[in-house]
Amino acid sequence: MCAKPISAAEGGRWVHACRIDAFAGRAIVPVFVAGHHLVLVQDDDGIFAAERACPHEGADLALGHCSGGRLFCPRHRAWFALANGAVSAGWYFRDLRTYPTRREGSGIQVLIDVR
Ligand code: FES
Repeated sequence: MCAKPISAAEGGRWVHACRIDAFAGRAIVPVFVAGHHLVLVQDDDGIFAAERACPHEGADLALGHCSGGRLFCPRHRAWFALANGAVSAGWYFRDLRTYPTRREGSGIQVLIDVR
């Protein structure tokens, strides 16, 4: 089941994560935002944010790759849908936590629960 990201109305706050030029030559950018280790992933549909550690055994998803709207874990090759964090079929651990993103000037912001 996909965890619903927090909204601004529920207490989330937009926080700067990185400059857009951080994606020069790469599709996955690890960031540390408001106490959270995240990956920002750019594909054809935009920029997505998710927790950095794989929910299976904690592999670093910054070392994975993305293709076709999916983020692939580098350790056991499970993949997660960028749109909602849903884990690929056949795996029985929780989905990846995802976070809304938006572009603000030359930067990328992530909506984070800062309560
Ligand atoms: S650690 Fe990511 S699929 Fe196993």
